[in-house]
Amino acid sequence: MSGAGFPGHDTGSSAPQMPPLVRPPHQTPHPGPTPRDEQTVTQPIPFERPLETRATTTLEAETPLGPTGRPMPVFPEPRPLTEHGGARVISLCNQKGGVGKTTTTINLGASLAELGRKVLLVDFDPQGSLSVGLGLHPHEMDLTIYNLLMDRETVLDEVVVPSGIEGMDLLPSNIDLSAAEVQLVHEVAREQTLQRVLAPALEHYDVILIDCQPSLGLLTVNALTASDGVIVPLECEYFALRGVALLKTTIDKVRERLNPKLEIEGVLGTMFDGRTLHSREVMERLVSAWGDKVFHTVIRRTVKFSDATVAGEPITAYASSSTGADAYRQLAKEVLTRWPAE
Ligand SMILES: Nc1ncnc2c1ncn2[C@@H]1O[C@H](COP(=O)(O)OP(=O)(O)O)[C@@H](O)[C@H]1O
Ligand SMILES: [Mg+2]
Repeated sequence: MSGAGFPGHDTGSSAPQMPPLVRPPHQTPHPGPTPRDEQTVTQPIPFERPLETRATTTLEAETPLGPTGRPMPVFPEPRPLTEHGGARVISLCNQKGGVGKTTTTINLGASLAELGRKVLLVDFDPQGSLSVGLGLHPHEMDLTIYNLLMDRETVLDEVVVPSGIEGMDLLPSNIDLSAAEVQLVHEVAREQTLQRVLAPALEHYDVILIDCQPSLGLLTVNALTASDGVIVPLECEYFALRGVALLKTTIDKVRERLNPKLEIEGVLGTMFDGRTLHSREVMERLVSAWGDKVFHTVIRRTVKFSDATVAGEPITAYASSSTGADAYRQLAKEVLTRWPAE
């Protein structure tokens, strides 16, 4: 259904037309085999091309390939900021749960804060995982984003809390937010409610990251309407590619009808395991479908992320020198290179 979600509408992108998620059967006769066809499913896809077929330019010889199979750039140190404001608003969005939206929101936010950016995290999931992941208790919150959305008397400053990380604040949420989805349906400009609520924050922060719930319902449409860009975290799993076309269609519709400036900032491979053929094949498919939108940085699978959640801290604080922390620091630099103002 997903690919047909927008009949006759050509978005100009090949992204929704994902290749079929089926591996070729063993020993299928092929009429003119290509080097790729000759591989069996048990052999890993080599990103390192064999030496004899490899281009021999000095540049290519010197630039190592990254986990996405493309030459890995070195991202520059971002310039220090002397003043703050004019925030860029980014939604972390994927209707599938457990793909790393909340983990990316916390750790990308903390890494951007380490780079001197003023960051506001918005917990826009009634499950409140972002708030819990930063050590807040759902039942101890006085005011949440629900109050901001539904009650015009509540102002932003009353709801924003410190995150425990210098330079990073949080708009918390809890299960109350699930009622907002129902109540907003009756509001005028129901898709623009979050945008209105966040407007006063733009002048105080450099970055606002919105952690979306795992659905494409009205809350997520609100997040996309309030955003300049979307980051799509995708678990490096075959099934993760399902539903991406529907997500793309939703983003396109919001851009056309509600928010012309909305861009896909990038697609982030998470829970990558370079030792498995599986992860590398998914990565290869991502790059062939989304091209340069795929971040060079990928986040590898490690239990340190769950440990950090239990500790109520970003991994950059909980295990500051871990590979997971370094990956998010690199992602922060890569994200900044993509921003017009940076
Ligand atoms: N790179 C990773 N490696 C291992 N576990 C991870 C990784 N990223 C996230 N997790 C864990 O996977 C679970 C789901 O991640 P989460 O960020 O909450 O996903 P989402 O917000 O998309 O539902 C959490 O328990 C989290 O700690
Ligand atoms: Mg989440």
